[in-house]
Amino acid sequence: MTAGTVTLVGAGPGDAGLLTIRGLRALEAADVIVADRLGARGVLDGLAAEGVELRAEVVDVGKQPGHHAVPQDAINALLVSLARDGKRVVRLKGGDPFIFGRGGEELAFCRDAGIAVEVVPGITSAISVPAIAGIPLTHRGLATTFTVVTGHEQIRSLGGGRDHTVVLLMGIGTLANSAITLARGERGGECPVAIVEDGYGENQRVTVGTLDSVALQAARRGIRSPAVVVVGDVVTLSPYAPEALSSSTTRKASQQ
Ligand SMILES: C[S@@+](CC[C@H](N)C(=O)[O-])C[C@H]1O[C@@H](n2cnc3c(N)ncnc32)[C@H](O)[C@@H]1O
Repeated sequence: MTAGTVTLVGAGPGDAGLLTIRGLRALEAADVIVADRLGARGVLDGLAAEGVELRAEVVDVGKQPGHHAVPQDAINALLVSLARDGKRVVRLKGGDPFIFGRGGEELAFCRDAGIAVEVVPGITSAISVPAIAGIPLTHRGLATTFTVVTGHEQIRSLGGGRDHTVVLLMGIGTLANSAITLARGERGGECPVAIVEDGYGENQRVTVGTLDSVALQAARRGIRSPAVVVVGDVVTLSPYAPEALSSSTTRKASQQ
């Protein structure tokens, strides 16, 4: 029996056009695809809609509505057991496997079990979801750096002003607290914020406000995960930003 392998493939944010060619080749060569729901499912459906026929069996381990996701330990064990059966396994993960995606853990677990593992990076939602709302994370005169965080705890120790873009993943549940914490620092309550829900999906929606207003807006509009939150002056570049927000920042940038 030939030795099985595991390839961790980043699916991108859910649009098949944002899967890499190397990722597509790995899917085409796979015997089994172990897929997340977020990002990965959209890519598999998108490929099917474009007439790409994959011969692999697909095992869905992502969180289904009304069901729990398969625990990480069980996913790790499944990857190793499939590879030990001689299968070419693709572990298809949303965005990039190594950005808040536990890809490092899966890689280490498979390697420790003696399985050959390859990693195919993906386009992370941290940059691609803001991009669909016309928001670059850095921009001359507006932002020179960016930080990607998930939790509220990390935000507490985050310095910087409005020229230091903050991207929050998995940030909807803690949005109100995060906004208060960020507003207390140099950014202030008037700092622009954008929330992009379901980027590249059927329910894509963009909400723009400020650190002071965003929690109320989110509640009123019933904002839901998955969503990427962007905080900083770069938000004013979005065509979704109201004129008032954009003009105050444009004035500030032109004075620098
Ligand atoms: C567990 S993290 C995984 C991130 C992933 N590894 C990546 O690089 O994009 C899941 C979070 O990514 C964000 N996310 C991923 N895909 C998204 C999409 N299509 N639209 C909006 N947010 C998305 C959301 O913040 C979501 O809660």
